Amino acid sequence: MKFDQPAGQNPIDQLKVVGKPTDRIDGKYKTTGTAPYAYERHDVAANQAYGYVLGASIAKGRVRAIHTEDAKRAPGVLGIVTTLETPRLERGMMNAAYLFGGDQIQHYHQAVAVVVAETFEQARAAAFLVAVDYTPDAGKFDLAVEAKGAPPVPGDSGEGSGGDGEERVGDFEGAFAQAPVTLDERYTTADESHAMMEPHATIAAWDGDKVTLWTSNQMIGWGHGSLAKILGVPKENVRLDSPYVGGGFGGKLFVRADAVLAALAAKALKRPVKVALTRPLIANNTTHRPATIQRVRIGATKDGTITAIAHESTSGNLPDGDPETAVSQTKLLYAGANRLTAMKLAHLDLPEGNAMRAPGEAPGLMVLEVAMDEMAEKLGMDPVEFRIRNDTQVDPQDPKRPFSKRDLVGCLRLGAETFGWAKRNPRPGQVRDGQWLVGHGMAAAFRNNMVLKSGARVRLDGDGTVTVETDMTDIGTGSYTIIAQTAAEMMGVTLDRVVVRLGDSAFPVSSGSGGQFGANSSTAGVYAACVKLREAVAQRLGINSEDAVFADGQVRAGNRAVPLGEAAAQGALSAEDTIEFGDLSKKQQQSTFGAHFVEVGVDADTAEIRVRRMLAVCAAGRILNPKSARSQVIGGMVMGTGAALMEELAVDTKRGFFANHDLAGYEVPVHADIPHQEVIFLDEVDPMSSPMKAKGVGELGICGVGAAVANAVYNATGIRVRDYPLTLDKFLDRLPEAA
Ligand code: MOS
Repeated sequence: MKFDQPAGQNPIDQLKVVGKPTDRIDGKYKTTGTAPYAYERHDVAANQAYGYVLGASIAKGRVRAIHTEDAKRAPGVLGIVTTLETPRLERGMMNAAYLFGGDQIQHYHQAVAVVVAETFEQARAAAFLVAVDYTPDAGKFDLAVEAKGAPPVPGDSGEGSGGDGEERVGDFEGAFAQAPVTLDERYTTADESHAMMEPHATIAAWDGDKVTLWTSNQMIGWGHGSLAKILGVPKENVRLDSPYVGGGFGGKLFVRADAVLAALAAKALKRPVKVALTRPLIANNTTHRPATIQRVRIGATKDGTITAIAHESTSGNLPDGDPETAVSQTKLLYAGANRLTAMKLAHLDLPEGNAMRAPGEAPGLMVLEVAMDEMAEKLGMDPVEFRIRNDTQVDPQDPKRPFSKRDLVGCLRLGAETFGWAKRNPRPGQVRDGQWLVGHGMAAAFRNNMVLKSGARVRLDGDGTVTVETDMTDIGTGSYTIIAQTAAEMMGVTLDRVVVRLGDSAFPVSSGSGGQFGANSSTAGVYAACVKLREAVAQRLGINSEDAVFADGQVRAGNRAVPLGEAAAQGALSAEDTIEFGDLSKKQQQSTFGAHFVEVGVDADTAEIRVRRMLAVCAAGRILNPKSARSQVIGGMVMGTGAALMEELAVDTKRGFFANHDLAGYEVPVHADIPHQEVIFLDEVDPMSSPMKAKGVGELGICGVGAAVANAVYNATGIRVRDYPLTLDKFLDRLPEAA
């Protein structure tokens, strides 16, 4: 199905199943520990051996020799595959660093060998007996140093946000020089780790020249093609299966070393091999969100109208890596006639920087929305009103393009009212609650909406069961549930009549999960397949498909009512289709909007920061399932709180690695860090986005929340820290005397 005209009325609009806060149908498996994750697929292949990955202990250079004799003699060891005996392998989709093969080391903990044994413990013990000789090279590890002289580059997050090295509208410098009120500040954001619960893991088994990988991957279509290329086998000989993914956040968009090494080792040993990246390996072996140095300049008239806005960001990466696209939202969020956005990319020999939940916008809004808060203060304006004053209904870089739907103002107003913003004391450092300095902050949320072609197959069986098959993944987001809701709505059955099977490369290729495009795109693909199945049902029953009504488990036409299953009485009916998106998103800008409001307490003596209250209001098209959508948004808010207050991969700038490479050193919020969270969705449908009229929310929730926390901390203390994360050491010596 081609989607190139705005959606009209369709069966989804009935909202009998879609739009309901249905519990996740996979929830019972997750909560009872019976959902099999990749490493636990004990039943899929007999005689699984365990691989343990050895990472390089230098950041850059060459491997001269790998001594495996002692390890090979260790108990239980079945074999060792080393990078020196493997030619450098091709890279897959979005990989900047090479994953394995050859003697070149590009980053610390790059895989140099996999040791395979009968048990995990034996493999691990033997791995410590492998000795590797290196010839190290000097590397570049310090962004602050390398940023000077970094060249402007265009770039893309691989998930939507991107742009040219420099983009201009009007005369920024002239307008900024003329502006009566100006701000020019520099901010930094830290390297961050995805820290998903389930480590990267794969079981691989060969059958002749065919290989199956039971793995944990967000994008089966990409992974399928990538593994064929990396392993040098035809695509039809590779199968990926990833029905449950314990979080990805962008770290599993692409193939990583676990999959490659499991496949290589299984081939070498002629036996199924399972490989998980151990937690201490993940930070440096896989990818991370790159740190940024950002500069924002805003010029406004005295009444708070922005006349000039510039946002520049510098990040670092390995050669062939992309910049962190932190300026993306600044092209679209606020009006202003004179504009400049620019990205620079420094060469760093740290592990590869790549997409992490809302790449671009997440660190970009952490900065832009603090700058907006600072500017509002300079103007003596309320920060909510300042944002409303500078709202735009058209793309500021190309005013012929309206937004398909944009209710940022609605989010801001409802959020302010619900949160009790009017009661906030705008003067910082004034509100006390016992030992706590109390502050209130807010920020706008923005993330672009992407749509990706997505396919599905739907089958009707004689008992009236509807089975959906698509290679779409559920990375903890609720894909199983919203896909079941979509099929139930389309076929007029209850949810318990629908079976959803995901994550298998044998199924039709979907959008996959990333860039908050998954929910809308994949359900639109299921919609398309269901439209075809409805036609097949009507035809089988001799009904004009235009007249057929699918409801209550029946197909009705005129006075006739037939149980749906009857259409398949003589044999199952199956239909497959792919939704393909035309250029509607070029004609109108599709984005999602929100507003975050946060209350914090800062300990007057220790500067410990506690978030006390959080509210998000989102406008993101039709909400397919308010319960799973809320879970996505509150998860994003938690992650944004982590970015604001604690998450930072600490760079060893001498040896070139992230030093805090486990969950003891890399802190993420725990339950006790997060207070009551409230999420409100504005009632919105966007017929430009898809037949579902939905958009993404999975990343909107993280966008802006870090700045709302930071602005609340400023309001509490009067101390403006522009370097994330806002750890207490950055406040202690500046805490107000009065405190
Ligand atoms: Mo994307 S960074 O996989 O949500």
